[in-house]
Amino acid sequence: MIDGASRTLSPEQTAAAHAGPDGAFLIAAGPGTGKTATATERFCWLVEHRVPAGQILAVTFSDRAADELRSRITEELRARRPDLGPEVLDGAWIGTFHSICSRLLDEFAYLVGAPRELRVLDETGQRLFEQRLVARLRSGEAAPLDPDSFTALSVDDLDDLLRSGLRFLLKLKGRGITPERFHKRALELHTQHWDSPADGSAQQAAHAELEAIEVLHLVYRTYEDALASEGLRDFDDLILDVIDALERVPEFRRRCRERFRYLLVDEFQDTNRIQLDLIRLLAAEGFGNVAVVGDAKQSIYGWRDAEIENIRSRFGGKRLPLTHNRRSFQEILDCATAFIRRDPDFTDEPDLVATRGSADRPVTVVMAPDSRTEARSVAETIRRLYRSGRPFSDIAILAHSIRMLPRDFEDELRRQGIPYLTSGGSGFFDRQEIKDVLAMLRLTERWNPVSLSARRP
Ligand SMILES: Nc1ncnc2c1ncn2[C@@H]1O[C@H](COP(=O)(O)OP(=O)(O)OP(=O)(O)O)[C@@H](O)[C@H]1O
Ligand SMILES: [Mg+2]
Repeated sequence: MIDGASRTLSPEQTAAAHAGPDGAFLIAAGPGTGKTATATERFCWLVEHRVPAGQILAVTFSDRAADELRSRITEELRARRPDLGPEVLDGAWIGTFHSICSRLLDEFAYLVGAPRELRVLDETGQRLFEQRLVARLRSGEAAPLDPDSFTALSVDDLDDLLRSGLRFLLKLKGRGITPERFHKRALELHTQHWDSPADGSAQQAAHAELEAIEVLHLVYRTYEDALASEGLRDFDDLILDVIDALERVPEFRRRCRERFRYLLVDEFQDTNRIQLDLIRLLAAEGFGNVAVVGDAKQSIYGWRDAEIENIRSRFGGKRLPLTHNRRSFQEILDCATAFIRRDPDFTDEPDLVATRGSADRPVTVVMAPDSRTEARSVAETIRRLYRSGRPFSDIAILAHSIRMLPRDFEDELRRQGIPYLTSGGSGFFDRQEIKDVLAMLRLTERWNPVSLSARRP
């Protein structure tokens, strides 16, 4: 959301945005404390200090975050420095890791060698590719994986390995570990651990582990080979290609370092190991021209392979605090902080101060036995608020995503006659297929022979 372009930053936000600019800076702060606002300000401040926009690399993880960063920078510069004209951001490097890497490979193809025409898998393409590969591995079509050839692994073990193994292997890829390195290291660890198996069952376990290593290696190898033979690359390949080129071609590295005088990373908690390696290679020694912005507890580290240690320990840098949240009332922040501190990783999470102050109303936590009861209690509360004079349009239900909101909520709102709009995706009853089915049901209802005959004179 873009609002309040050219806003006045708080002193701590200004201190963070205007730090250096030379040096490594870590702005690790809680939700809604203005991290993206601070990153936006830093970009604009550098431009105002005569750093051409094309010499600042502003990078983040998801398309959504990159779009937000780009539009906030565009708005802010437009409001603040109309004299610079709309072309000030022409040639700017504001994007996701993947888009930046693909652009670098394009632009410097003459130096690093143009990669063969390869299509990059998007998120859906990646999922389909993985599903297809697992199916082909199961059927024995992609690689010789005959369950009978294993003596220690059962058919179920093998199935488990195929189902969850690939996810695990792709995490390794995000750490820059190739199939060969995985194989070598796994065998080393295996030998260390199973030095001399004590008895028969230990021997059996050791043998099962060995077979599992071979299966995983085969799966990883087959995945890589299938990408290559179909002329495809996954997201990590793009980053690995740039890392490889930076290490292989000193001139490319020199030019990149010359090009990017300053680097800025938003949503740093979502980066994986190779993304950190990439930043290290593009940056001055010791991240000496990098500012990163993020929040460890917002790390989606179960997903893809974000590594929380990037923000916690690997980057280092001077810490610049942001302590004021601008989105929520104090009661909400206190409640959220109390929840977060229950996580053993975040027991010393600092307090957040709400600039909006107190709502003079406590947060209520409802523990419902199931989503139906939860939905009913929420809908009843909305009814009550409405009767006491609150318009429906003042009330929102937030969910992680509209797809995650149990359908019971929509059922219940409809049942209690509460009008609602969904945003950020379509609600259950807005989906085209559901609309079609409902329309058909209505038709059949209208053509009901009983009601037709009842209407006959
Ligand atoms: N100094 C300020 N004055 C007014 N509004 C501000 C200021 N700083 C931030 N905001 C507003 O507060 C909200 C949160 O800011 P922002 O999105 O930058 O926070 P964030 O820390 O990046 O959040 P997230 O944790 O979700 O990434 C936004 O609506 C932003 O416009
Ligand atoms: Mg943000």
